[in-house]
Amino acid sequence: MRQIIDIDVKTRKAEFARCKTDMLVVGRFSDGGPGEIIQALDEKLDGAVARLARIRDFTGRPKTQAVVYGNGRIGAERVLLLGLGERKKATLDTLRKAAATAANRAVEMKAKQLSLALHGSFRGGLDANAMGRAIAEGIYLGAYRYDEYITEKGNGRSALLATEIVDPDSAQIRSLTPGVSAGAVIGRAQCYARTLANRPGNVIDPPALAKAAQDLARGLKAVRCTIFDGKKLRQNKMGGILAVGSGSRSEPRLIVLKYTPRKRPAKGLPTIALVGKGITFDSGGISIKPAQDMDQMKLDKSGAIAVLATVRAIAEMGLPIQVLGVVPAAENLPSGTSYRPGDIVTTYSGKTVEVLNTDAEGRMILCDAIAYAAGQKCGVIVDIATLTGACMVALGTYKAGLMSNDDALVSQMEKAAEDSGESVWHMPSGDEYAEEIKSKIADLKNIGSRWGGACSAAAFLRQFVGDAKWAHLDIAGMDICAKPTEHTALGSTGFGVRLLTTYLMNLVENG
Ligand code: BES
Ligand code: MN
Ligand code: ZN
Repeated sequence: MRQIIDIDVKTRKAEFARCKTDMLVVGRFSDGGPGEIIQALDEKLDGAVARLARIRDFTGRPKTQAVVYGNGRIGAERVLLLGLGERKKATLDTLRKAAATAANRAVEMKAKQLSLALHGSFRGGLDANAMGRAIAEGIYLGAYRYDEYITEKGNGRSALLATEIVDPDSAQIRSLTPGVSAGAVIGRAQCYARTLANRPGNVIDPPALAKAAQDLARGLKAVRCTIFDGKKLRQNKMGGILAVGSGSRSEPRLIVLKYTPRKRPAKGLPTIALVGKGITFDSGGISIKPAQDMDQMKLDKSGAIAVLATVRAIAEMGLPIQVLGVVPAAENLPSGTSYRPGDIVTTYSGKTVEVLNTDAEGRMILCDAIAYAAGQKCGVIVDIATLTGACMVALGTYKAGLMSNDDALVSQMEKAAEDSGESVWHMPSGDEYAEEIKSKIADLKNIGSRWGGACSAAAFLRQFVGDAKWAHLDIAGMDICAKPTEHTALGSTGFGVRLLTTYLMNLVENG
């Protein structure tokens, strides 16, 4: 997949004021004065930054920016000043977003070199390795554009953005560097996810998604890809996936990615299954959706793609943990061959489901994939899906719903969310909700009552996990950025790549 803007991130020992670059980026908190770096720059710049603060054009308030020009007095052509807000409120995500904002500005200003000294203002507060990772991730995320279908390529933007994190202290550089490498792998994986997710339904249908997974596996030594086509799905009686796929000319698929690390996993680490919803387009089927915003349902494959990209990231890092990626892929369309309301479907697990709404298709494909993962002796199953509008109603577009049958797993996910900046909120999925999805004429029905739809959807999936520890991430609303911000472009966010990768990295580190 060709990226229009090619990014390279390095670390380098250099004095800030001497650093030759198109754009030097420095942060400022709104409290506690300008900080060492700004003071050092200001000495050479005749107090230009101090003057900005005095006339209150730039005081470090969150989301504010200013540019001052070097005029030959320092190595940099320009200095981008970023407001970081209150020091005590600053987290790794503050740093990640600042780096993303800087990369975004650099792309807009057609800079070819970007030098960041953002970590300098945080010194002492945060772990250097984690800072390097957050900055590198931010650079990739902020520079990202989806423009592969704009025929006037690149819009005159620089094709290469050479980025470096600079510091005069070589010990500091040494401790930032491993994090920067990991962050670059994760950032690239998340951008890969965004591009694949942004491709529309006429380009990515289930067979095309399967091919993308095969292409991915071909480039990664430790990953093997197996595809279940229509025939194999029928042989395996994967009735849920087949039912949802039956309305489309493109056959459904089950994609299985097996990552076996070169290095042996630590004793006691279970195989982790990552299961992602891969609806390449969700029209609702016979229970058709309203026309308004239906186009956004091309992003209903975002969970699937988060799984592919996470497998890519951990394989590139050689993370010592066994992971099984399981992705059911189908297109949900109305037609003469569609599944219908009232149908009773026998799923892969043997459980029967009464279909009361064909638009509740995510759980129909996921239940087969989850039961498959449970059958492959995965000790932990994490599924990720743009599953319910109800989750968006509950949490808005700030946090993904997290449901689970295991408290320790909830804590691990919450920790990963905190570290990665991809936020989650724990929600219930227990017995009351399971009551709602009992059918009078089958084992289950595919919708609950009007209330708590995110929780009854999760309770449905929970019926298929067997003895495994299970967590469910409802990412409806998190998959898309509807309005571009200073640090996120329009379209797919690639949500889940950082969260899942961080969860796995933390498991390897802490067990
Ligand atoms: N893919 C949708 C959920 C969705 C809605 C994601 C809006 C992102 C934005 C899912 O397949 C769906 O249609 N869910 C239904 C379930 C209902 C029929 C029980 C919903 O949320 O309305
Ligand atoms: Mn739907
Ligand atoms: Zn859907």
